[in-house]
Amino acid sequence: MTDNLGKIVVLASGRGTNLQALIDASKENYFNGYISLVISDNPRAYALERARLAGIPTVVLDYASFPSKKEYEKKLLAVLQEENPDLICLAGYMRILGKEIIKSFPHKIMNIHPSLLPAFPGLEAQKQAVEYGVKVSGCTVHFVDEGMDTGPIILQECCPVEDYDTPESLAERILQHEHRIYKEAVKLFLEGRLEVKGRKVLRKR
Ligand code: GRF
Repeated sequence: MTDNLGKIVVLASGRGTNLQALIDASKENYFNGYISLVISDNPRAYALERARLAGIPTVVLDYASFPSKKEYEKKLLAVLQEENPDLICLAGYMRILGKEIIKSFPHKIMNIHPSLLPAFPGLEAQKQAVEYGVKVSGCTVHFVDEGMDTGPIILQECCPVEDYDTPESLAERILQHEHRIYKEAVKLFLEGRLEVKGRKVLRKR
């Protein structure tokens, strides 16, 4: 039954509101795919609970229980290869993926970041934006490469930064946009409408 549906694996470390947006989108048939597995490096991630509530299988690879990053990545790669998804979505996944994994799934791994990249990569992007004093920020969905938030950009959406915003109030505003563009990027991908040419992601009509 799921044969012609795109198979998606989501990696999440935390509360998982982006995961939830993808779960909801898949239930509504917003895109032609389903989430086959949710993987977390954090056994306490609420994302795992969201997956369970939606009946999606989960795998916990508790980072703290591995002797080294290398061993953790080896296991993660094995799980991903076994699952063989069409698309891997990072949704609040708080680790940098190793080269081996990225090479094994070229242009098949997406991430969502809460700023208009290349501004404010890395941690606490919303705090960086507030402290810098920008008047506009937003979010970016991009393919993952070996850098930190540097891969080819798929979609971006902007929103205002208000004078009295805190990192938290800005994060909340940006999140509404994240939930919209992540599912849209997944839809475009599963429709085969994204073409990567160097740094650019072109949208086929
Ligand atoms: C989001 O702001 C996402 O852009 C960033 O981490 C946060 C995760 O939030 N990468 P959630 O776990 O999806 O609620």
